[in-house]
Amino acid sequence: MNFLETREEMVELATSLFQRGYSVGSAGNISVRVDGGYLMTPTNSSLGRLDVNRLSFLDHEWKHISGDTPSKEVVMHRAMYQARADAGAIVHLHSTHVTALSCLAPSDEPLLKPHTPYLVMRLGENVPMVQYYKPGDPAMEADIFAAAKDSKAIILGNHGSIVAGPSLVHAVDSAEELEVSAKLALLLHGRQTRPLTATEIDELMNR
Ligand code: 13P
Repeated sequence: MNFLETREEMVELATSLFQRGYSVGSAGNISVRVDGGYLMTPTNSSLGRLDVNRLSFLDHEWKHISGDTPSKEVVMHRAMYQARADAGAIVHLHSTHVTALSCLAPSDEPLLKPHTPYLVMRLGENVPMVQYYKPGDPAMEADIFAAAKDSKAIILGNHGSIVAGPSLVHAVDSAEELEVSAKLALLLHGRQTRPLTATEIDELMNR
């Protein structure tokens, strides 16, 4: 996919996320690895009203080259790309159910149990959580890097989610799967459930 097609795909998928309620207001941001650097959504822009000509372009060193000022979450995206050579795109959302999970009091129980095959296939057996940081706080870098080494998705304490994928379509699909899995976790909260067994999980992971 060339540069222009990538810009169009970013706008199209961001609009789709916004229209289906995965982001509201100016929450959320998206980046894609491209030749020469990264394309990123501008700060304070709504995912529902992006303009291809205003997307931010940053070089390999994350220096802003053209377009509007990039998202304040540059450090969070950068840490995830640095941890994951397989990341071609990253989606950060404040989608309602993941954000609700991220506000629960800390506990030894994992926030998401492996209840469904698509959660396991897309995001692995465990989705880690990183403690609360103010949006855009560069202090989160080391924690994001460490968590992203083991997982392509992270729940951000009192904030939302960040998900990487080999392509933007993949990252968006996985972010949607994470949101729906969080909704299921809240629906099932307090009930006896049957998570997938270790054998069933192995079968999915070895696909
Ligand atoms: P930006 O508008 O700077 O991308 O920030 C939005 C956001 O989601 C912060 O976490």
